[in-house]
Amino acid sequence: MKIKMVRITPHPVDAGKAMYNSYCASCHGEDGKGYGPATPALSKGAPDLTLLAAHNQGRYPKYKVITALSKFSESHHIGTTSEMPDWYKAFVSLDSTNPIKADLRAISISRHVQTLQIVR
Ligand code: HEC
Repeated sequence: MKIKMVRITPHPVDAGKAMYNSYCASCHGEDGKGYGPATPALSKGAPDLTLLAAHNQGRYPKYKVITALSKFSESHHIGTTSEMPDWYKAFVSLDSTNPIKADLRAISISRHVQTLQIVR
């Protein structure tokens, strides 16, 4: 099976839940548990994003999530499989004249991922 990369659907920069469901749920699942429809194509599946706080002494690691979606995602590189798409590039492609919006998207999505935590 191969993951089909499609052109990113535009959503408002503050629509964290809509962006999560549109951009992230295919791998991480709408509930964040890591069982989206694309996971069979991933070498190790997608990580469970509902445990981020539980694995960080009960504190949601927002900088980790925002960084994973930022232009620093490669230098702070997450994991080893490189199967997590380059979201910064995708977000900049939506607002190429105003790249700060890419960071706002990362923040809005992170806020939604925080609501999925089993420990809050
Ligand atoms: C094509 C599948 C796919 C999509 C879509 C995807 N991810 Fe991922 N993501 C992964 C994989 C695979 C990893 C693990 C990378 C590794 O270990 O090499 C990962 C890792 C992560 C991590 C690091 C988790 C940890 O415990 O370190 C975060 C945070 C994350 N993704 C958030 C997101 C968000 C938010 C979105 C939507 C903007 C998203 N991902 C979309 C596949 C995906």
